[in-house]
Amino acid sequence: MPASQFYTRFTQWILSYRLPKQGASLLYAIGGTIFVGFLIMMVTGILLTQFYHPSPEEAYRSLQQMQQIPLVAFLRSIHHFTAQGILAMLLLHVVRVFITGAYKRPRQITWWIGLALLFIMMMGAYFTGTVLRWDVSGADALAHYQEALHIFGPLGDVLTNVLPGSSPMLIRLYSFHIALFPVLLIALMIAHFCLVHFFNLSPTPTEPWSAAEAAPPDQMKVGFSEHLWAIVRFSLLYYGPLILIACFVRAPLLDAPSGEHGPLKPPWPFLWMYGFENVWGIQVIIYLGAVFFGLLALVPLLDRSNDRAFKARRGILASGGVFCLLLVGLTLYGWLIPAQEHKGHHHEEEHHNGVVESLKPATTDTTLDTHPEMLSHSHDP
Ligand code: HEM
Ligand code: HEM
Repeated sequence: MPASQFYTRFTQWILSYRLPKQGASLLYAIGGTIFVGFLIMMVTGILLTQFYHPSPEEAYRSLQQMQQIPLVAFLRSIHHFTAQGILAMLLLHVVRVFITGAYKRPRQITWWIGLALLFIMMMGAYFTGTVLRWDVSGADALAHYQEALHIFGPLGDVLTNVLPGSSPMLIRLYSFHIALFPVLLIALMIAHFCLVHFFNLSPTPTEPWSAAEAAPPDQMKVGFSEHLWAIVRFSLLYYGPLILIACFVRAPLLDAPSGEHGPLKPPWPFLWMYGFENVWGIQVIIYLGAVFFGLLALVPLLDRSNDRAFKARRGILASGGVFCLLLVGLTLYGWLIPAQEHKGHHHEEEHHNGVVESLKPATTDTTLDTHPEMLSHSHDP
């Protein structure tokens, strides 16, 4: 098919695509806004890779240099603030889909693919991004990664740097951040969008046809361009101010890890786990993650009726409310309590050395292997 014919067919198809009336509302434009945020991350991320040195010895210095060049510092800030904004939007999208019962038949797989997207965004892209900062907060995030993965035995060993000859953690997590996770996210987004398109938007809980799989054909009144306009409007409203903030506020870069800093708290999306870590140690985050994603995965299996009306879903809506309040409460608690050193299953000294070890340059020098603490100074500016 010649390109011009393909273009005509494509535009015809887009223009003839009809959505129910909620397609023009901001609440149903949140998903598209997340996608716009992802595009911003891709563009700023690719530009940042032109300046960032992913080797353990150079990373921190390269970030310090990036902070000195106004345009690069600005790009870094956009990447940083948009990452926070995307995570907030994702949570809002999940709440919207949950409250409107949009996970019900036939959209269960759309929900589970969404969960995989949430997992890779939060535990993958956002988390590895924090490690890339390679300052004390990056070292702290990496320490959590190393310690928590011990739970998985030999698999954990492969993913961390305990096996002889394993590559530096920073280079591995960098390749995940700029290659593996974006590829996985794009593949899952394509699947998510195809399913959303195939089933169209779910009926709202307040409509007479709330139990139907989709709105009746005569109710499909909104054109795709109106839906797109809602997404553009919302994106401008949302990312505009975030980019404005990025003009004036730099993305954080804390001190280089030297082993002398006090305890730190995790970034806000993980703060709800902090109180548990104080009691049960670092590895509890694996169990908490499993409970969080496990409960969300169970939602379409627990609430199986077709009806999306609020009256018919009092139980699940109340449980969702309690779940949200618990997360908010635990986040506030984690925010308010003083930072404290966390117990791992490993001795504190060994734990610290494990991180410094992963910060070391690739070398066969046995002095450095037996005295990894020497290396911490090589990262000081
Ligand atoms: C990268 C992340 C995601 C992107 C880009 C995305 C994008 C979208 C878009 C564009 C829609 C169309 C309607 C709307 O915007 O509300 C949608 C619908 C939907 N999403 Fe997502 N989504 C993501 C993550 C999630 C997550 C985390 C979940 C749930 C766990 C989820 C579950 C759903 C469901 C069930 C629908 C169908 C809603 C309906 O028919 O009313 N999505 N998503
Ligand atoms: C949705 C996907 C992404 C998320 C959530 C994300 C998140 C992050 C975060 C939180 C940071 C730490 C920055 C800071 O807080 O100071 C970071 C850094 C970085 N990201 Fe991403 N990122 C994403 C996609 C990408 C892509 C696609 C690339 C490149 C192809 C990229 C390249 C980088 C680079 C080079 C850094 C280190 C520079 C710095 O810290 O400023 N990111 N990312």
